[in-house]
Amino acid sequence: MPVIKINNLSKSYGEIHAVRNVSLEVAKGSIFGFLGPNGAGKTTTINILCTLLKPTSGTASIAGYDCNTESSGVRNHIGIVFQDTTLDKDLTAYENLLFHAYLYSVKRKDRKKKIEDSLEFVGLYERRHDLVKKFSGGMKRRLEVARGLIHDPEVLFLDEPTLGLDPQSRSNLWEFITKLPEKQGVTVFMTTHYMEEAEVCDQIAIIDRGSIIAQGTPNELKKSIGGDIIYIKTSDNEKAASDIEKLLNLKPTIKNGEIYVTVERGDTCLPELIRTLGESVLSVRLQRPTLNDVFLQLTGKQIRDVEISAGATLKENVRSHRRKFGRD
Ligand SMILES: Nc1ncnc2c1ncn2[C@@H]1O[C@H](COP(=O)(O)OP(=O)(O)OP(=O)(O)O)[C@@H](O)[C@H]1O
Ligand SMILES: [Mg+2]
Repeated sequence: MPVIKINNLSKSYGEIHAVRNVSLEVAKGSIFGFLGPNGAGKTTTINILCTLLKPTSGTASIAGYDCNTESSGVRNHIGIVFQDTTLDKDLTAYENLLFHAYLYSVKRKDRKKKIEDSLEFVGLYERRHDLVKKFSGGMKRRLEVARGLIHDPEVLFLDEPTLGLDPQSRSNLWEFITKLPEKQGVTVFMTTHYMEEAEVCDQIAIIDRGSIIAQGTPNELKKSIGGDIIYIKTSDNEKAASDIEKLLNLKPTIKNGEIYVTVERGDTCLPELIRTLGESVLSVRLQRPTLNDVFLQLTGKQIRDVEISAGATLKENVRSHRRKFGRD
């Protein structure tokens, strides 16, 4: 069941087309990653979904409420952690959340427990009476996540939740984020610049210059750019390559004293290869594409010169990129 539905959404500022014909659906209880370079249109899309901005055209709905015409319905069902911190530094952690609970009309009898539970969830309960100005960047971000959860939203928007944090605080914050669907029953819609973070997402959409250029699970996206590569060195590469081709029906290539072969699943193919080649194997290594490779192929500098068609599939876009740069 999709909890977020976006249909042909566009937003222009005069000549600037910040968002162009974006359509996507986000399943309830999932973590959805919205990735894209600076200025791609991520925050603009989030602002439209959160009813802070009107689209130029197209529609969007959250939990069945139209983002354009039913803003209070939408606002009651979402929480948001903005790209820039919006905490009151002169209040304590508890007071920040209390203020938010007032704004969202959380019932008086529920307030204390909800605030304490949220603080517990992000590991800040012990620090609840400290002023926010004494918090580290990571603690502030965690507090903002807690604040976004006070009114039991169905969807939590996280715009660059880990930007500017050190690796330890990032992984710490991620621990909480990944638990959100299961523990709090929340659907997470997040943007990030860190590709390795996007690995935890159930679904990913890559946006560039306002258009969605790829969508899928992290594995689907990685597979689409070519699969795993196995590199093997043997005592007789010519014979080994011919055996691989004949016996395993693969297409090996010899380069720089190594055989390399592209396969769909490196982890299952590798033992088979070693069994086939026996004792002639001197070394093996497996290279798997990362989300970073996907992102660079699609939004990297070289691809700027290629006409990317928003309607084309990821494979078609990658193919056109490869044709252009003679890699096919
Ligand atoms: N109020 C505005 N007026 C004019 N142009 C705007 C406005 N807000 C955003 N834009 C433009 O819209 C485009 C998309 O901006 P947006 O903030 O959505 O990008 P983003 O993907 O969130 O980028 P970042 O990763 O840097 O946060 C940019 O070209 C930006 O300059
Ligand atoms: Mg942004």
